[in-house]
Amino acid sequence: MATINKNYDKLQGAYLFAEIAKRTKNFIEKNSGVKLMRLGIGDTTLPLTKTVLKGLEEGVKKLGNKKTYTGYGSAQGDLALRSALVDFYQKRNITLDPQEIFISDGAKSDSANIQSIFGSDNIIAVADPVYPVYVDSSVIAGRTGEFKDGRYEGLIYMACDEANGFVPTPPKQKTDLIYLCSPNNPTGSVATKKQLKDFVEYALQNKAIIIFDAAYTEYIRDPSLPKSIYEIEGAKKCAIEINSFSKWSGFTGVRLGWTVVPMDLVAEGTQRGQINSLWYRRQSTMFNGASNISQAGAFSALSAAGQIESKKLIAYYMDNAALIKKSLSKIGFEVFGGEHAPYIWAKIPSDMSSWEFFDKLLVEAHVVATPGSGFGRQGEGYIRFSAFGDKKDIKKAMKSIEDNLKL
Ligand SMILES: Cc1ncc(COP(=O)(O)O)c(C=O)c1O
Repeated sequence: MATINKNYDKLQGAYLFAEIAKRTKNFIEKNSGVKLMRLGIGDTTLPLTKTVLKGLEEGVKKLGNKKTYTGYGSAQGDLALRSALVDFYQKRNITLDPQEIFISDGAKSDSANIQSIFGSDNIIAVADPVYPVYVDSSVIAGRTGEFKDGRYEGLIYMACDEANGFVPTPPKQKTDLIYLCSPNNPTGSVATKKQLKDFVEYALQNKAIIIFDAAYTEYIRDPSLPKSIYEIEGAKKCAIEINSFSKWSGFTGVRLGWTVVPMDLVAEGTQRGQINSLWYRRQSTMFNGASNISQAGAFSALSAAGQIESKKLIAYYMDNAALIKKSLSKIGFEVFGGEHAPYIWAKIPSDMSSWEFFDKLLVEAHVVATPGSGFGRQGEGYIRFSAFGDKKDIKKAMKSIEDNLKL
């Protein structure tokens, strides 16, 4: 008799954004004609840039010609794209080999799938609050116990709060895999070199591996802040870096990301290159390579013109972030993030829960944001605003909050 993976039973309720969609739908059904302003989900809204479009179009055209048609590509990704990424890192004084880079369909799947190459008894550490994928994929993989008092047994939670500027410190106890994300979703915080160095030192001492999610790295505007974990000495021995074209070049729908598994990376009892080979084995077994059209688009995104255009997209979203920050501060919110990330993490100025405040914001200001508690126990009492919307809508939303929210 077939049985199901019972670990799914441990997952909590609906995925955060499904619950938001449900509450929003209920509100619209009862209040027809009301136009909601959505500052919830972190999805890009600006169209693809001209250089990226050209790359995608060329990718499509090649498929329509017998001479240039390609079918399955390398499971690791097109060598030209991996080489372009090597150049991209080299400009930041990070030397990689194309063999260390794996092209994927995005950072979400890689951040979950990477667990499959590690032992089932590995102990995982996550920040709290955190991007929910790291936690839920750990649950599904059977690396946690039950959910009790807002947390899963067996996971190590690294607290992020005002005292540490929402950047965690390495755990006190020994752990094996550590998920880190900087700039951070949901708090918008960013780790300094010193903070990442502390994690690298911890990982080297404890033979742990850091899974570093750099999906928002291009939003960093201060050149002294690290854009890659490999800016930290020793990180190649203890860190995997996952990145994406989603938030940077508008690929949330196109889909394309990459993961760096350095040859120097070691785990208990492994030899040089062995973890890289394991990930290659996993990908070539369970993944047939990213879309050749998306890869053509990404190759263009990495060109000089493509990067300039992507910077403009980021500047637009960061202008939005500044607007949100300014407006919320004006009416008395304490706000964090929004300087090097497209998220504003606002403290709810009362003892309301995140979901209570979500409903209040919806009813009084017709604005949809994301309840902080959806990202973990420590997120309770906060709400996340996303800067990915249209500027006019964001201005309207902020005006509505200023005028209608009863604080
Ligand atoms: C921290 C973080 N990592 C990864 C992703 C997903 O990236 P992708 O679109 O490449 O799957 C997101 C999307 O919101 C994210 O916030």
